[in-house]
Amino acid sequence: MDKNRVYIFDTTLRDGEQVPGCQLTTVEKIEVAKELEALGVDVIEAGFPISSPGDFQSVVEISKAVSEPVICALTRANTKDIDAAAEALRFAKRGRIHTGIGASDMHIKYKFNSTRDEILRRGVEAVKYARKFTDDVEFYAEDAGRADNEFLARMIEAVIAAGATVVNIPDTNGYCLPEQYGAKIKYLVDNVSNIDKAIISVHCHNDLGLATANSISGVINGARQVECTINGIGERAGNTSLEEVAMIMKTHHALGYTTGINSKRIYDISNLVSTMMRMPVQPNKAIVGRNAFAHSSGIHQDGILKHRENYEILDPEDLGINPNSIILTARSGRHALKHHLERLGYKIDKINLDEVYQRFLEMADKQKEISDHDLQMLMGDGQDKN
Ligand code: KIV
Ligand code: ZN
Repeated sequence: MDKNRVYIFDTTLRDGEQVPGCQLTTVEKIEVAKELEALGVDVIEAGFPISSPGDFQSVVEISKAVSEPVICALTRANTKDIDAAAEALRFAKRGRIHTGIGASDMHIKYKFNSTRDEILRRGVEAVKYARKFTDDVEFYAEDAGRADNEFLARMIEAVIAAGATVVNIPDTNGYCLPEQYGAKIKYLVDNVSNIDKAIISVHCHNDLGLATANSISGVINGARQVECTINGIGERAGNTSLEEVAMIMKTHHALGYTTGINSKRIYDISNLVSTMMRMPVQPNKAIVGRNAFAHSSGIHQDGILKHRENYEILDPEDLGINPNSIILTARSGRHALKHHLERLGYKIDKINLDEVYQRFLEMADKQKEISDHDLQMLMGDGQDKN
């Protein structure tokens, strides 16, 4: 096994779908799951079966419809939840039970009204019980971001000994700084004696806008699974965004990390999830936002047309995006105008261009953006066309 292969665990249909207003029908979830399979994710977290009959049924149907990725179902650390997950996963070619319990003193005291030892015991029991149904059991130590590292290491060592094959270290509240989160992962690598028997997974929330940075820091320090969602959707400010992680690994290939993601499918699945979940993507969102490749300043447009890499570190075609995304505005230069006119089939020489450019500026001053249709209007005076 390649030691730098990073597994992509998609939780769009579980953590992402928990967002109010984002709920999908089972049929819609199957469509997204098939697209996730085509995208090349390694694991699809399909739902939380005990939470509702609809979630249960979705896990059943996704297990039938999708065969490449592992299908994962979430549980709390109790037998009823685990029974429901095992039952929902019965058609999965490869099923994973994802069980866990709080790890921070805050959760232990105020959520469970319990003690560290009792919580650790419940975590271990849950893993042992889940192993009766599958040999692929992932354990999550909820709120690990705020947990005491020494206790967390003890808990992780115990659940691995009980049979956990993946250990998830969630920054549930999006609290950590990248250095802190990376140091936490390194602490586990250095202090959990049986850590080589499990894959460390990172699961970060974006409350401080650090979910992706924290996930990457986790990988640099030894994690080999990243839990993420399409467009970074998820509770509150969201989860780590899948497209950001995949493109960071691709762009910084010198780091040596690889994923199974086919980046050319990113833009389409981003649109599908955004439309289906009625969750618009912010225009300046990294990688998939409408403006992510839209250069509007004249200086940048000119630079881009001379050589794309002057102002772009990513190739839009790598994401399945049409590369003609230079937006024409009153700040665009002659070079950008000529590029678009030629793209539309108009032949333009220098003298002609000066004159057309003046008329273009008059038009652009009156409106925010100039569309292809506007350009055709501008040229609707019998110009020579190829
Ligand atoms: O954020 C979190 O801690 C979670 C767990 C249930 C994995 O989503
Ligand atoms: Zn989460």
